[in-house]
Formats: sequence, C-alpha cells, structure tokens
Amino acid sequence: MAPIFQLEVGEDRLATLTFDLPGKKVNVFGRAALAELETVLDELAAHHDIGCLVLLSGKPGSFIAGADVDDIERVTDPVEAEAGSRIGHRLFGAWAALPFPTLAAIRGVTMGGGTEIALASTWRVASDRADTRIGLPEVRLGIVPGWGGSTRLPRLIGIAAALDLILTGKTVSGRQALKLGLVDALLPDARFLDLVRDFARERLTSAPSRAHKRPGGLRAAFLEGNPIGRHIVFDQARKQTLEQTHGHYPAALRAIEVVRVGIEDGLRAGFDAEARAVSDLAPSPVSKNLVHVFRLTEAAKRQRGFVGEAGDGGGAAAEPLPVRETAVLGAGTMGGGIAQLIAAQTGLPVRMKDVRHEALAAGMTHAAGLFDRQVRRRRLDAPGMRRRMALLRPTLDYSGFRRVDLVIEAIVEKLDVKQGVFAELAAQVPERAVLASNTSSLPIRDIRARTPHPERVVGMHFFNPVHRMPLVEVIVPEGADPAAVNTVFDFTRRLGKTPILVKDSPGFLVNRLLTFYSIESFWLLDEGHRIEDVDRAMVAWGMPIGPLALTDEVGIDVGGKVAHIMADAFADRVRLPAWIDRLSDGGRLGVKNGKGIYRYEGRERQEPDPEVYTALGLEEPRPAGESGGGPDLAALADRMVLPMVNEAARCLEERVVRSAGDLDLAMIFGTGFPPFRGGLCRWADQQGLPQLIAILERLEGAAGDRFRPAAALRETAAAGGFYARFGGDEAVR
Ligand code: NAI
Repeated sequence: MAPIFQLEVGEDRLATLTFDLPGKKVNVFGRAALAELETVLDELAAHHDIGCLVLLSGKPGSFIAGADVDDIERVTDPVEAEAGSRIGHRLFGAWAALPFPTLAAIRGVTMGGGTEIALASTWRVASDRADTRIGLPEVRLGIVPGWGGSTRLPRLIGIAAALDLILTGKTVSGRQALKLGLVDALLPDARFLDLVRDFARERLTSAPSRAHKRPGGLRAAFLEGNPIGRHIVFDQARKQTLEQTHGHYPAALRAIEVVRVGIEDGLRAGFDAEARAVSDLAPSPVSKNLVHVFRLTEAAKRQRGFVGEAGDGGGAAAEPLPVRETAVLGAGTMGGGIAQLIAAQTGLPVRMKDVRHEALAAGMTHAAGLFDRQVRRRRLDAPGMRRRMALLRPTLDYSGFRRVDLVIEAIVEKLDVKQGVFAELAAQVPERAVLASNTSSLPIRDIRARTPHPERVVGMHFFNPVHRMPLVEVIVPEGADPAAVNTVFDFTRRLGKTPILVKDSPGFLVNRLLTFYSIESFWLLDEGHRIEDVDRAMVAWGMPIGPLALTDEVGIDVGGKVAHIMADAFADRVRLPAWIDRLSDGGRLGVKNGKGIYRYEGRERQEPDPEVYTALGLEEPRPAGESGGGPDLAALADRMVLPMVNEAARCLEERVVRSAGDLDLAMIFGTGFPPFRGGLCRWADQQGLPQLIAILERLEGAAGDRFRPAAALRETAAAGGFYARFGGDEAVR
C-alpha cells in the first residue's frame, strides 16, 4: 500500500513530511494514518540531519480535516473513547518533543486533529488563500478537542480567545489566525512553498526562540494573568454557555472545565482532563445525535437532485441548466433578501423588479445594510461591496428579462396576482428560462396554470430571514421538467443554502409540520395555560424560540391565513380554536406592528401581554406558584411535538419528502429544531414509536381526535421506526 506520510530530507537540513492519504480527497487521522505516524515519529527521533521539519499536505485546498468521524461515531465504550484521546496525546506529544523544531504549513481547511498537530508544532504558518480555515469543531460533535487542543490553544492565544473558538466550533481565516496569534505568519499563496522554506531557514539561522507574544491586549493579559481574573473569565463563559444552551450541550460546559484544568494544573493534567471528557462525552446520545446531524449535512451536499418521478429514469435529462443572469420579482422582505443573496454568493447580475418605486428603494437599502454588516465584520471590503451592489439592477419594467435564465418570484401571496404575473413573465423571458416561486402556501400547480410552459415552473421556498436561514425547500409539482428542478436545486447550492426536495402539497413540508405544532400551542392557551409557560416548555425542550413568540415573528395574520389553508386541506385532523382570527382582526399583527401576543419595544420582545387573554375571551390564568407548583413542562412539550411526529409519518408515506434524513435536516435548518436531538424522526425513533403512540392515544381520549395516531405512524412503528422504514439510501451516508 502507498505510504500516507512521505519524508524528504534536503541538503540544507530542511526536511518535509507530506501527509497524503491515498485515494481520499482530504487527509484524516484515521487508524491507518495514526499507526503510520507512530512509525514515522520513531524514525524521525533518530534523524540527526534535520534542522527543521515542515509538515505539508498533499491535498489541494485542504491541510488536515481532523479525526475520522467514523471513529467518533462508532465508539460506544468509554474506555475505548479515552484510549482514542490518549493516542493523540502520545503521538502529538512525541511530535512536540522531536529533537528539532517543527513547522505546520497550513494551506486550506484544517480542523480538529489537524489544528491540534499544528498546535503541537513549534511554529505555524498559513496561506492567505480564501479557503484557509482553521478551527476546532469538536463541540459541534458533542465532544471536546481531545488531542491536546483544549490544553494547548489557550496557552498560545489566551483563555478568552481560545474559549471563543472551542465553544462555538467556528473557524478563522489565515488573517484572523495571525491576528489571534494562532499562526506566526500569513504567506501569499502564489509562492507558498518557497516562503514556507524561507520562514524555516530564517528560524534556523537566527537564535531559536519558542517564546510567544500573547495577543489580546493588556486587558486580557491582566485578567488572565491572575487567579481572580481567570475566575471571572471562566465564570462568564459558563454563564453565557448555560444561557445559550440551556444545559443541552454538555460538551461546551465540559470544555470550559478542561481548559481551566489545563491552565491551572499544567499540560499533563489538561491532557488527562481532555481524555476523561472524551471518555464521558463520545459515547453519549447527544454526541451520537450531533454526529448524525453532521452526517446528514454532509450527505445533503452530495445529493444528486431530482431524477424524475419514475425513479432514476430521468437522470440524463436532469442536468441543471447554466444560470448566468437572474431576476427577482418583488423587492419586499423576501425578494430584497434573495436578490442580495444572489449578488453576494454568485456574483451574477440580478434584476429586481417591483411595481412600486419605494419598494425598490427599500430593497436596495436592505441589501446595502446586509453588505455593510459584512464590511464591518471584515468579510468584505468597500470596493467588493460596491461591485456587488452594482450587480443589483432595480427596475419597474421587464427590461433586461430577455436574457435571464432564472426568475425567482417573491410578490404578494395572492393566487390571482401570481397567476397573472407568471403569464406576463413567460412572455418576457427566453423559452428555456426556469421560473421559480417563493410562495409559502399556494400550490405551484395553480400558480403555473396560465403559463405556456408549466413544466418549467418550480417552487423555491426560502425562509425568513433569507441571509440567515440555511434551508430552501425545492418544491416539485407534478409533471415538472427534471432539468428545471435541478437548475433550482443546483442554484440553491450556489447560494450556500441546503436544498431539500419537497412535493407540491399543502404547507409543503416545514410549514405543514409547524402548523400542527403551532395550532397546539393555541389550544394550550385555550385550555388556560399561561403564554410564558407554553413558550418556556419548548425553549426548555431545545427550540430556539417558543411557538407563541414565533407566531409574533411570522405575523399573527400570516400564521392565521396558513392555519386556515391547512384546516381546509386536512379537515379530518386540523381543528382551530374559535378565536383564531380575533387577534389579527383587532390589529394585533405581531412584531411587525409592535403589538402581538407579547409586548414590544421597537422590535425587542418584552413580557407577554395580559390583554391577549381578554381579547380572546379567556380567563387570565393565575401566575405560576399561586396554583401550587409549576406546570409540567415536559407534558406541555409532548402536546406540541407529538402532533408533528404524527404528521411526519404521513408526509413520509405520501412522499412529500424523500427520507427521514431529509425531513430531519429540513426541520433543523428551517425551524432550528434542536440538533442535539438529532432531528424529529430520529428523536421519535429514540423515544420508541410504540411509547409515543400510547401517549397520543391518551391525548386523544383527553383532548380530542386531532391526536389520533395516524395509520402511517402505526405502520412506521411496526416497521421498526422512521429510519428503518424511510431511511432511504441517501438519508445517512
Ligand atoms: P412583502 O409584502 O414584503 O413584499 C412583496 C413585494 O412584492 C412588495 O414590495 C410589492 O410591492 C411587490 N409586488 C406586488 N405585486 C407585484 C408585481 N406584480 N410585480 C412585482 N412586484 C410586486 O412580502 P414578503 O414577505 O416578501 O413575501 C413575498 C412572498 O414570499 C410571498 O409569496 C410569501 O408568501 C413568501 N414568503 C414569505 C416569507 C416571510 O416570512 N415573509 C417566508 C417565505 C416565503
């Protein structure tokens, strides 16, 4: 078998060790690589002809991607997990103890174990190419950096800066890494290898110094240099983490503790703490769920798109069409956001058409604001912003539409208006153009009714706010041209979003499931529960926002409209409280007019508005405590989550979505469904469907037939669960 590591020793005592895992796109530290590194280290220790050793990657565009996720996924035994961590300590310890200095030459992505071997090196340099990203993403997989990273990073760049990277798992560019002191030099990519050698040679001839100036300024040095200061830093990190995670992500809290031990008690104690943390965390269900979500995300990047309704028959005709010019109809909340995203991500020209001049002006201001934020965060420079803004071409007519390849419509949600606009549009664009609608509730087959080429009309359902939400539902109406669908699928990826294919059916996927959830939150109000308890139940469960606060965000009027559409579509199981329209009829629209289920100061949510109970004709519930004990939050959460599980079974059986994995990813990316639970279907499988059916049956008896377990759910239970029945070959790996 070809070697994984290639050692070359030059005349000038400069040696290079090139990591190039045969047959793989990226380097990972799997078993084979670790075993071979061990042999190489033995050899290296005996080399007396080396003055400096440079670690290089043989892969273009990436340095080292970290440990093999398969190994993390597989481990269920705490002893084995601990041993896995200790291997890294031993090998990277031996690397750090080589009798000559080492230099990690980082070019492209380096993650986890890759960053950790760089940290164990004497020096680190990074290429200035755009895809150089350095990070320790372990917490996102439910573990802590366990090959020395949690202990070495804070020593190099300071505690607060290290915690910021470790607790968020975020990555930094070469330039940011230089500023943090994570690398010693940033080298232009064009002459990277030459400059790496120059860097090493210079170090060889000047007096060796491992001393490192800690960045972060005086305040950080002062705070972190004494025990009381450090106590403050760790305490703040703990508080912030608890606030953000509600205790659902134990790895983050544990990482803070590991970093503390490494700083206070020394390297060895730090490594021990890392190994114990990995031992406790890697086998835990939270870590397994997070690894599952990571897998789903990776699989989504590889999915092929739409292959026609008959299965894989349409494959050849399904190639996406090239998109060179685009247009967006409607410059409102969604249209403005979509146009900005196209300019930001693809660099393609985008016409933005509206019927009102003021709307165009507002759309341009919105886009400028988003770019400006990127400039302030140094993700974009001022000339870059000007170039991108110049790609946005506001217009009141169809000028320039003769050349567009893709149009995305985001105008008012009215069927007759959309139908008219699509008919008009079809006459303005080339015959081959793909027409997409961002409708959130209207059937695509109705919207396309008056177009000459209905097969070229597809749904492209973004989520609000466009720049932040990673999901796009690609809605496939019956008879759609696979090439048109895949043009939208492919373009969604170019926008940096995750496309999920969804059948053209009421509420599509995410809004359909969310409606069942949100209607149940109304019923809980109706039964006399307090607004804050209903929301608290779901935030405690892990949702980023409670369902009633979410209704305010979406707009009470918009939510009500969707609820009615769903009640018509699923009359057998959607029941609405009689007061459903009373709030919006009374002028309470939510965040947008500062008056909703909650009170607002500007757009800032305050306390629940007690007048809501009166407006709905409900009695104001007594404050918690007075009625003795608080409500059973877990039971409230069941009430809202189980209707979604029930409906998920129906969606999968009706082929609204292709697999349980697609459904889970859509819910995580579209609603913030808690990743630590692995997704709606995965969570339900873990609870055991027979148990959930039993709870639904109890609820049916107590609260009504809307809880009746669906036949699809019973069949799914009988088949062994969601993933057993609807795993699909693309669901996981
Ligand atoms: P909006 O009211 O903010 O913007 C609609 C814009 O379309 C307005 O600027 C209006 O002047 C313009 N318009 C009306 N008729 C037009 C025509 N014939 N040609 C060109 N422009 C026209 O509405 P929003 O919220 O941006 O929604 C747009 C679409 O996106 C709707 O279909 C909605 O269901 C959908 N959607 C909305 C989401 C949201 O959270 N707001 C989320 C996902 C989809």
